[in-house]
Amino acid sequence: MDKIKEKLSPELKWKLKSTISLFSTPLNYVYDFTRYIRYCASGDIYKNRKSLESFILKEYHRLEKGLSLSEPKLNFGESVIKNLYHLVNAHIAKHGGSPIIAQALNTLDAYHDFHQKQNSSCIVNKEENSRLRNLISSGKRYDTGGGTLTISKNSILEESSKSFASLVKSRHSVRQFENTQVCETQIAKAVEISLKTPSVCNRQSTKIYSFSKKEDKEKILSLQNGNKGFGHQASHVLIVTSNLNCFEGAAERNQCYVDGGLMAMTLCYSLHSIGLATCFLNWSATKARDKALHISAKIPDNEVIITLMAVGSMPDDLIVAESPRRSIDEVLVSTQT
Ligand SMILES: Cc1cc2nc3c(=O)[nH]c(=O)nc-3n(C[C@H](O)[C@H](O)[C@H](O)COP(=O)(O)O)c2cc1C
Repeated sequence: MDKIKEKLSPELKWKLKSTISLFSTPLNYVYDFTRYIRYCASGDIYKNRKSLESFILKEYHRLEKGLSLSEPKLNFGESVIKNLYHLVNAHIAKHGGSPIIAQALNTLDAYHDFHQKQNSSCIVNKEENSRLRNLISSGKRYDTGGGTLTISKNSILEESSKSFASLVKSRHSVRQFENTQVCETQIAKAVEISLKTPSVCNRQSTKIYSFSKKEDKEKILSLQNGNKGFGHQASHVLIVTSNLNCFEGAAERNQCYVDGGLMAMTLCYSLHSIGLATCFLNWSATKARDKALHISAKIPDNEVIITLMAVGSMPDDLIVAESPRRSIDEVLVSTQT
């Protein structure tokens, strides 16, 4: 065997090695598939606390997002509100209260207050919110946030230049952009900073496509499901991709999402550091839409679309979704004694 190996050219050896590892790839996709089917919330979002909480988060965040637009529609999201009350009740019945339930109730209050300010009625009932709060905390208002924040561009710019922690903490997803075109040089500057993003073996598989022509942006945004009410205000729409040609074998089957995700986050912070407003736009797409975007944006099939991003200039004063975070105790798993 060793003698045969010695006789093979380096190219043939590489090809053989990577072909052998390719054979185990389907099995590993089956491994991914079975884990996903087993643990994802499809079919039963009530299956456990984590799944139920995630859907409560998703639903109340839809209200936060709607309230953070430059022109929120009156009575938007009524079906979301009905779902949210149902999920909150289900959570309280099964698992009791939690900060996420409190955030949902605070967001419902914010929705109510927004309508009251507009002299409009809405389906949110603050008394019902108080009743639910009573159930989980004897009436105490959890100080957990939920709803919207009003901030000024100046305070964001000031904070973002102080330290890395301030840069990170002063970034918000912005869903209201000023009606001015961002310079190409600013986009290029942010991309240039992002080139320092680490990648597996420094293979640098990612690309960033930048679109600023109205008709291109419209075509792309029409295929994305999370930009209603603000996408049209974005000066630029960016698409982050990762090239599958850079990876081989079963073990690297998902590497493009890691490298592409890291690049996307650096890009987001880079844009924030130069004073631009951003909002990630999910690319949680199934086959037909993924193919449609590849064609529309002229992205070659060998590049995986990781995420989209709306970029624009910040208005002087803006409203953002509060998007409260979990506490550190829920996230940091420390094995130290
Ligand atoms: C991968 C990804 C996809 C996202 N997609 C959307 C989207 O389609 N529409 C949207 O309005 N926000 C989107 N967001 C923004 C999230 O809602 C936001 O990051 C989250 O609520 C935290 O808020 P923050 O970014 O203001 O800190 C996305 C964020 C990420 C990371």
